[in-house]
Amino acid sequence: MLNKTKTMNVPFVDLVAQKQQIAVQVQEAINHVIDTSTFIMGPDLSKFEEAFAEFCGSEYAIGVDSGTSALEMILRAYEIGPGDEVITAANTFIATVLPISYVGATPILIDMDSETYNIDVTKIEQKITKKNKSDHTSSFIWTTSRYG
Ligand SMILES: Cc1ncc(COP(=O)(O)O)c(C=O)c1O
Repeated sequence: MLNKTKTMNVPFVDLVAQKQQIAVQVQEAINHVIDTSTFIMGPDLSKFEEAFAEFCGSEYAIGVDSGTSALEMILRAYEIGPGDEVITAANTFIATVLPISYVGATPILIDMDSETYNIDVTKIEQKITKKNKSDHTSSFIWTTSRYG
């Protein structure tokens, strides 16, 4: 008996399918921002921050302009700066490394695991140093998933 295997191509990312589910709400929201010219800050941002904080079960949420800025804020909140090292994946997107430079810290890049394409966890420990501010006990390790 012949064992026939059917194959199916599943797109890696299907943004059109995602968009179709929320297209009307997104378009209305964009139109509202354009109509009211509240491109920066404004009541829509405040509403988003409140809704997102509630969604996360957090007291506060702060909207920023980009993922890069959000990552920079995380480093600043941990008081990472000049003299500190931040360990991260060598094959990550530049937006992971730029915030490390923005705060004056040094990125320490670790090669990926060739099976998973994520950071090779077996190489992290040897890169941990005490090159941190006195209140940090070890290096700041910043991992990203294979696809950012
Ligand atoms: C790994 C990683 N970090 C950070 C970012 C944030 O980038 P942006 O500043 O463009 O929002 C991205 C965006 O793709 C990313 O892939």
